[in-house]
Amino acid sequence: MMQFIESLDLLRTLRQQWRQASHRVAFVPTMGNLHDGHIELVKQAKKRADKVVVSIFVNPMQFGANEDLAAYPRTLDADRAQLEAEGVDALFFPSVSDIYPHGLAEQTFVEVPGISDLLCGASRPGHFRGVATIVCKLFNMVQPDVACFGEKDYQQLQVIRTMVTDLSMPIEIVGVATKRQQDGLAMSSRNGYLSDEQRATATRIFATMQTMRNDMLSTQQPFREIEKNAESNLLAAGLTPDYIAIANARTLKPAERGETEVVILIAAYMGRTRLIDNLQVTLHQS
Ligand code: PAF
Repeated sequence: MMQFIESLDLLRTLRQQWRQASHRVAFVPTMGNLHDGHIELVKQAKKRADKVVVSIFVNPMQFGANEDLAAYPRTLDADRAQLEAEGVDALFFPSVSDIYPHGLAEQTFVEVPGISDLLCGASRPGHFRGVATIVCKLFNMVQPDVACFGEKDYQQLQVIRTMVTDLSMPIEIVGVATKRQQDGLAMSSRNGYLSDEQRATATRIFATMQTMRNDMLSTQQPFREIEKNAESNLLAAGLTPDYIAIANARTLKPAERGETEVVILIAAYMGRTRLIDNLQVTLHQS
């Protein structure tokens, strides 16, 4: 039976019991509105620990002023049923006033410099400060041994890995491969905003990344040229790219020929919906 926990005191009591029983604890933080991508995170968490905690918290600190926090889908009953069916041990569902009792303006924050300002960070100023701060707080509350995050949010994963290393947090961070629909579209809560026609067009993002990967592997085209071609392809398909980047897989700075571990990252608007995706590529030096 899954425990539904709204108070931090109860969470701490449970965590203490598990510590006394030497249980290894895995954690999956979410903002709810769960889909198969989240369920995959839970499955991976279960493989790595004796107990699994999932949190649902729609974090106001990571939403920009022009992003609609109020409209974010809240589907607690359905989420709860799915997590129960997956055998999750505890669902932590804190309130905004418990997490930020003094409001956001007076909240101490965590900021991972450099990487937080690139790509999605450039388009969404303050977003990764909000993510790092809530993940740090949730880590302190849940005190997991291991935590699972989707590779779909590749930059978020790298921000969290950097935070954990820089702040010496004793937590293993596991990146879980992106779950895709049969046509390649990465699973995302935002897919629900797309019409059928938009959804079909959105599959061009994955197709474009695959073309980019082929060009990276089988030609000597400079990366910036490959990015430009991809931009033309996405525009022609009816998407509006925010960024298309071939980046160093760790720092996310622009990659150059000669680097071996790189990642293709795309953010593009389909109508008013902003979609992101990425593809990691290993290049062998000739
Ligand atoms: O990926 C998400 O759903 C959120 O950014 C996270 C990690 C739960 C922090 O609010």
